Amino acid sequence: MKAVILVGGKGTRLLPLTCNTPKAIVPILNRPFLEHLLGYLKEHGVTDAILAMCYLPDPIQSCLGDGTQLGVRLTYLVEESPLGTAGAVKNAESYLNGPFLVLNGDTITEIDLTAMVKRHKEVKPKVSIALTPVDNPTLYGVVETDTRGLVQRFVEKPTWDKVTTNMINAGIYILEPEVLAHIPASTPSMFENYLFPRLLEIGEPILSYPSDAYWIDIGTPEKYLKANHDLLLQQVGRGIQAKGKSQFHPTAQIEGPVLIAEGCIIAEGAKLKGPVVLGPHCEIGKDAVVQGAVLWHHSRVGEKAILRNCVVCSHSYVEPGSHVPDNCVLGDSVTVASGNILDKGTQVWPDGYAESNETQP
Ligand code: GDD
Ligand code: MG
Repeated sequence: MKAVILVGGKGTRLLPLTCNTPKAIVPILNRPFLEHLLGYLKEHGVTDAILAMCYLPDPIQSCLGDGTQLGVRLTYLVEESPLGTAGAVKNAESYLNGPFLVLNGDTITEIDLTAMVKRHKEVKPKVSIALTPVDNPTLYGVVETDTRGLVQRFVEKPTWDKVTTNMINAGIYILEPEVLAHIPASTPSMFENYLFPRLLEIGEPILSYPSDAYWIDIGTPEKYLKANHDLLLQQVGRGIQAKGKSQFHPTAQIEGPVLIAEGCIIAEGAKLKGPVVLGPHCEIGKDAVVQGAVLWHHSRVGEKAILRNCVVCSHSYVEPGSHVPDNCVLGDSVTVASGNILDKGTQVWPDGYAESNETQP
């Protein structure tokens, strides 16, 4: 079965992480997000994927190439202007024959795709849709079903008074090719509020596949950080994993789970308290404390600086003695001046970026 992966969104809620890096390839455990998603598909026997792109397509393509290294075959499609989730799949119609998968390109999950495909083939609906329970359904698409598991209604991003269930659209669909006839070509449209409600209106069956397997949408900095923490615990337990060569001062203290890429320097008396992910060529200064943080490549933490539960993108510098507390996000190439104590949740954008971004339509 082929898969269409939707990776055309701007990743606005993930800014400033996505200023220079599309959401589809932000690093999770030092590997581009899509490598995790493609690995998951491969585990379920899906090795042929079409990437439906729009915003920043070039970095995605140069990162993954034709997919050979990952053991998959990739086809790239670029929309000139966003076609929406359904329009993007319509745009891939000539590459599709037979039933196919569609996945949102920003979720990490262990939902059993093999079982979902099996059920789709047994019950033969026009569409199958994976559902997952969440604490706050107002951030997602709520899906109401009947006792047989057939979908009754979609309510995208409902207000709390409209929430009738905690089961939401997990962003994984199996579609029969004939449903593509209901999507207009070259005009933007969404599955969530156009195609699916329309199919229900004309009486086409949509089958739900509810699952309580691990699922997370990495679309906000908090969720991005949590995805890193969860996967790190899963991958290294309470341990320490160093890939390639790094320098550790003998007095540095490291408590797992910690993942360290090649070329890092951990100075005298520095403390790493897991979960921590260091990208390639990071430097942690003397007596600095880094706890619960994710750092991308070539970032530096000065002497006695403190970082907690935050994200630091590439080539940034937290100068000596400064504090970067919970849920702060530092974009690429930013500096936190020496002794500066940031408020929780502070976002520091790359120079000139916030302004130019706000003026975009
Ligand atoms: N090619 C293309 N073109 N891709 C797009 C476009 C587009 O115009 N618009 C969005 N996408 C991609 C995004 O890159 C992302 O991977 C995926 O489609 C979903 O878009 P999001 O912007 O992340 O949507 P959401 O998270 O608010 O809501 C969606 O996902 C939820 C689960 O995470 C909806 O499908 C909800 O119903 C669902 O619950
Ligand atoms: Mg999303």
